[in-house]
Amino acid sequence: MSELTQVPERDLFAVIGRGITKSFDNLRVLQDMPVNIPRGVTYCLLGPNGSGKTTLMRVIMGLVKLESGDIYILDEPLSRINIVYPRLGYMPQQRPLYPDLTVLENLEFYAGLYGIRGQERIRRIDEVLRVVDLPETKNRITGMLSGGMYQRISLACTLINSPDLLLLDEPTVGVDPVTKQSFWGYFRELTKEGKTVVITTHIMEEAERCDMVGFMRNGRMLAESSPDKLKEFAGLKKQLRMKVADPEGKMAKLVGEGLEVRIEGDILFVDVSDTSKMMEVLDQVKPMDFKVIEPTLESAFLKLAI
Ligand SMILES: Nc1ncnc2c1ncn2[C@@H]1O[C@H](COP(=O)(O)OP(=O)(O)O)[C@@H](O)[C@H]1O
Ligand SMILES: [Mg+2]
Repeated sequence: MSELTQVPERDLFAVIGRGITKSFDNLRVLQDMPVNIPRGVTYCLLGPNGSGKTTLMRVIMGLVKLESGDIYILDEPLSRINIVYPRLGYMPQQRPLYPDLTVLENLEFYAGLYGIRGQERIRRIDEVLRVVDLPETKNRITGMLSGGMYQRISLACTLINSPDLLLLDEPTVGVDPVTKQSFWGYFRELTKEGKTVVITTHIMEEAERCDMVGFMRNGRMLAESSPDKLKEFAGLKKQLRMKVADPEGKMAKLVGEGLEVRIEGDILFVDVSDTSKMMEVLDQVKPMDFKVIEPTLESAFLKLAI
């Protein structure tokens, strides 16, 4: 019996896996990996190129056969993926649409894959085009769309069956900042409806916007956590950047109190554990100007990855 059959809260996860292992030829692409994706969140698989993100998504979709390991998707084992398939939406990394077809024809094709026909099909197509804000593109040739529009139509196709779990492989690559912003808006809306949105990226700022991050490297899961918890776990603190008169004297005083302080000209950088400590330091130093610097996810990962 597998380890996961014993997990009582398994149904709280959109995806839960243990010991996920996969090789292509002699190359170990996923190595004894766990994965824990709670329902109703945005979850980011973050890692450099070649770390196995796409392969993991394809495993979750049942497109790649596992060597060993155990996964449940929407509380069904991978062997019964066909049962949950109608509740999944997958947007592959490579351009997934037929370039010669119109937007409407592409949407009809995707609807057909899920057995959506007749009035329901018309209704769903109108709805997903509204979601991505492109109702006027129906009769455009897909291959002629701009990069950002193409990605939005790809997302619309992925939404056609109103999936509970969306797997989006690098959905924001090649899209303009405005479209990127609207994608994050859609993702938030979807999670509000209880849907789970999994995306892959190698861009830290994108990961930072997700509820949870799975940090992958060389086919291993190095950490799974919320961005804030990860920073806490890495021991990173907020910093106060203060412009002060008599920087040396003020620095000596703060160091004497056991604080970590760095100096650059008349600017002091002080690590602070919480808001009350921050207020205390500000009150004491009375800076001419100050700014709070939040720790970045990148610095947390760098610290944890060493
Ligand atoms: N079908 C395949 N056959 C052989 N090697 C593959 C195949 N798919 C992926 N790989 C290899 O697996 C590794 C991980 O690839 P991938 O999952 O695409 O990583 P990522 O999406 O993180 O960039 C890479 O070294 C890639 O070349
Ligand atoms: Mg990839």
